[in-house]
Amino acid sequence: MYSARVLGTGLGSPAKVLTNADLEKFVDTSDEWIRTRTGIHERRLIDRDAGETLTSISVMAAQDALKNSGVKASEIDLVVMGTTSPDTLMPGTATRVAGALGLNKIPALDINAACSGFMFSMHTVDALVRTGAYKKVLVIGGEHISSILNWKDRTTCVLFGDGAGAVVVEAVKDADPTKDSMILGSKIYTLFDEAKALEVLGGGSRYPSHHPEMGKTVHAHITMSGQDVFKAGSRAMAEAAKEVMEMCRITPDQIRWFVPHQANRRIIEMVAQLLHFPMDRVFVNIDRWANTSAGTIPICLAEMEQQKLMKRGDLILIDTFGGGFSYGAMLIRW
Ligand code: ACO
Repeated sequence: MYSARVLGTGLGSPAKVLTNADLEKFVDTSDEWIRTRTGIHERRLIDRDAGETLTSISVMAAQDALKNSGVKASEIDLVVMGTTSPDTLMPGTATRVAGALGLNKIPALDINAACSGFMFSMHTVDALVRTGAYKKVLVIGGEHISSILNWKDRTTCVLFGDGAGAVVVEAVKDADPTKDSMILGSKIYTLFDEAKALEVLGGGSRYPSHHPEMGKTVHAHITMSGQDVFKAGSRAMAEAAKEVMEMCRITPDQIRWFVPHQANRRIIEMVAQLLHFPMDRVFVNIDRWANTSAGTIPICLAEMEQQKLMKRGDLILIDTFGGGFSYGAMLIRW
């Protein structure tokens, strides 16, 4: 019997930092509004002029994860990438990353589940590794989300940032879930009925760039009903986390770290409260990164590892929510 364990993590950070004060110069907003409503102080942005792309920061994250895992790129037999802002529609970004790492004859696939892209990727990889089909997998979550923002819409543009994180997942035989490192269980869901609260309509095949409505009634940027997303998101995250804890017969007091999607500090606090996690066991880095969509969870894990906050055997609960809507949670024995 195989199970999947996380070997190591990596970070792919764009070089450019945009603070709230910088935003004040071209958006009708204020540092005070952004901090108090969201907890965000600054965000990282991909700098096209400096040659950065989603692929380049994803490769950076992947190489860091490989180094921290003590694994050579040539050992990887599958690459899975959660993103909703791929460099190109074709080929997928996972294919570009695999190529850049010199991996040209292995499967590489993109998973688009908006902010839940990394969670959906991890769920898929866990299931595939359990079959015994793959032994060492690179899982990446990353976004160039600033490319699909309307910088004239202050209700959305202040909330997001770019970034990527990666993990190396390894197949292990006959692991003991009560003590060995492994993914213990996960649940993922989509809820299409409420999709209108958070979406990017333009840029796909329904509204391609040459469609007559593009730029008039339809746009290739994020639109969102903030309060609807707030309510639906906090409810869904709490629900998924509870289900996974029940499924794995684990209670919140046994969990060392709760690592929620970083959409808004107030959502994080609300979900932590619903699940009875004190904030000193909740990892938060939204102040420096903002919402990097599919990047948030792997970036958190990479920073937690850099800061030596986790040790082998600790229980880590990751929990996410995104456009679509998509949501889910996963329990990992680190
Ligand atoms: N700067 C200054 N004022 C602003 C800004 C801004 N950036 N954005 C909105 N306002 C104004 C509004 O125009 C409104 O003004 P009015 O009262 O004169 O009409 C006022 O602030 C309040 O607006 P609300 O939308 O009611 O503000 P709210 O308290 O709901 O906070 C927010 C907005 C932060 C977006 C909140 O609804 C939220 O956190 N929603 C969750 C959505 C989220 O986090 N999405 C992230 C991406 S989704 C994901 O990751 C899945």
